[in-house]
Amino acid sequence: MHKITLLIFFASYVTSTAFAEGDYDKGKELAKSWECIACHGLTGNERRPEGPQIQSTPMLAGQPASYLARTLNQFKARVRVDDHLSSKMSDRAGALSGQDIEDIAAYFSAQKRY
Ligand code: HEC
Repeated sequence: MHKITLLIFFASYVTSTAFAEGDYDKGKELAKSWECIACHGLTGNERRPEGPQIQSTPMLAGQPASYLARTLNQFKARVRVDDHLSSKMSDRAGALSGQDIEDIAAYFSAQKRY
């Protein structure tokens, strides 16, 4: 095999393992099992305020997957700490694996915004 072909083959292998793309179906299952949909809705369009809290649930539908994954990783690392007392986003995101986050991000980003 040509050296350059080998190189391209190797480079694409490395990129695909380093940035494993989110899986829509797994993301949907995770969004249900982790109860993300209880607050964000099945399609991530839910924006209802909770109880006496002032802040409403942010829109997830149609946001770029990279943005959703970044915010979840920020919650996970507690770089972003939610000020909504009952959502505990940091705790929830902290329990997700890096791949879970990619999958969930792929699912919500593919949803139509309405
Ligand atoms: C109890 C309600 C509740 C549940 C359950 C919940 N969230 Fe949230 N989520 C919120 C609220 C409220 C915020 C805004 C928090 C803040 O910034 O103070 C938020 C913020 C977010 C954000 C940031 C969006 C943005 O544009 O700023 C993402 C992404 C997110 N949630 C995804 C998830 C995922 C994935 C799950 C399941 C693992 C989940 N949420 C479970 C209520 C919830």
